[in-house]
Amino acid sequence: MTRTYAIRTFGCQMNEHDSERLAGLLEAEGLIAATDPNAADVVVLNTCCIRENADNKLYGTLGHLKSLKAARPGMQIAVGGCLAQKDQAIIQERAPHVDVVFGTHNVGEAGRLLQRAALEGPVMEILEESDAFPSALPVRRDVSHAAWVTIQIGCDNSCAFCIVPAVRGREISRPFDEVVDEVASLAAAGVTEVTLLGQNVNSYGRDLTRRRPLFAELLRHVGAVDGIRRVRFTSPHPKDLRPETITAMAATPTACEHLHYPLQSGSDRVLAAMHRGYTGARYLEKLAGARAGVGDLAVTTDIIVGFPGETDADFDATLEVAAAAEYDSAYTFVYSPRTGTEAAAWTDRYVPADDVTRRFDLLKVVVERSALAKHEARVGRVEDVLVEGPSKKDPSMTSGRTRQNKLVHFAGQVATGSYADVLVTGAAPHFLRGELVEVTAGPRHRTRIPVSAS
Ligand code: SAH
Ligand code: SF4
Ligand code: F3S
Repeated sequence: MTRTYAIRTFGCQMNEHDSERLAGLLEAEGLIAATDPNAADVVVLNTCCIRENADNKLYGTLGHLKSLKAARPGMQIAVGGCLAQKDQAIIQERAPHVDVVFGTHNVGEAGRLLQRAALEGPVMEILEESDAFPSALPVRRDVSHAAWVTIQIGCDNSCAFCIVPAVRGREISRPFDEVVDEVASLAAAGVTEVTLLGQNVNSYGRDLTRRRPLFAELLRHVGAVDGIRRVRFTSPHPKDLRPETITAMAATPTACEHLHYPLQSGSDRVLAAMHRGYTGARYLEKLAGARAGVGDLAVTTDIIVGFPGETDADFDATLEVAAAAEYDSAYTFVYSPRTGTEAAAWTDRYVPADDVTRRFDLLKVVVERSALAKHEARVGRVEDVLVEGPSKKDPSMTSGRTRQNKLVHFAGQVATGSYADVLVTGAAPHFLRGELVEVTAGPRHRTRIPVSAS
């Protein structure tokens, strides 16, 4: 009988995309996706360790799987991703019912490790580094109209709060032509929107050639691929955001008017302690350049509250920069100490929980104020919307994304992957409401994208 698999993903888009590769690998070995994840023969958990709650979620899920496995001894559990890379043996110690532990540098080995575990019992294999960009893994993509394309793995920065360099290794860029070729084959299969992925996309190519800036060039090439209507990318580090990237965005009609531009803090003292490489003023200056260069640009960000040593005055500076930046939306995080990172050792400077909560709530007010104002300013406009499918809350409604990456809900049913003109009629801090004007293009894909090498 054909074995079935289910993959549960924690963390960021990199992990989501790695899960698509894991699915591709398992399907290449003859497994099929389980319709009921609780009945899957193979369960893969692709983990994250960016903040503490990410760990807690994993152990909670493993607890639940323990009872399922006790009832079905043939079942296999594999744990991969960033937390597996970081905690390695701890996972097997805390959860001996796990069959396979693999890391971020050997996603391609997951299938082989599962086979080995079936014969030999639990196995763990973690590599410390990738020696080259892991190309040519099969990919089973979740949706057929939009796709993630990795352009870079790892990170060479050393932000004092961040575990990513420790678990994802040094920065390696994917060869330029390989990226463009993948986008072309995706477009040929019907994909119309691609998101270029890297921890620091603006340093893309630094390890490939002296010719710079390669990211701007890559954006232009990818944006010119026949059939591609939208190009997005995440994330550009503010210190490396260059005018050439902005010029390339402006000159590439398919490049969407959206910049995810992570601030982390508005205090120069805190930014220096974080090793972010910019000041609040420099950040805003580059942002003004981006807004001047790309008309109608939506800007989103990441901000950490309660970094060790953050004072009320530091936090006020964050509020000021956030207000001046007029974000369309922001991911705000409470600082979470990660063992092994520089800032985690500064226990004498940890910010009391009450202060963190108070600051967090204040920041939310500032961000939601600008988000709502930005969204209200869209009311009355007709937006180009890529349809994602029926609304999760109300299936009689359809949801999609504008070029600025704003979620919009409108009445009626339109096929997933279509483009539609939608009149914006209402605004909330986190989404827009609209009315369908007309469908401008149907989905291009004929079938689900076949499993293919990427
Ligand atoms: N490479 C990206 C960030 C990836 S991590 C960049 O530099 O922009 C995504 C976000 O998680 C970060 O921007 C940061 O805001 C948040 N984050 C990372 N480590 C954290 C920590 N220890 N505590 C709280 N938030 C954290
Ligand atoms: Fe982490 Fe900084 Fe690298 Fe982003 S740039 S992944 S925050 S170390
Ligand atoms: Fe992403 Fe979490 Fe790893 S945010 S890179 S999955 S630690």
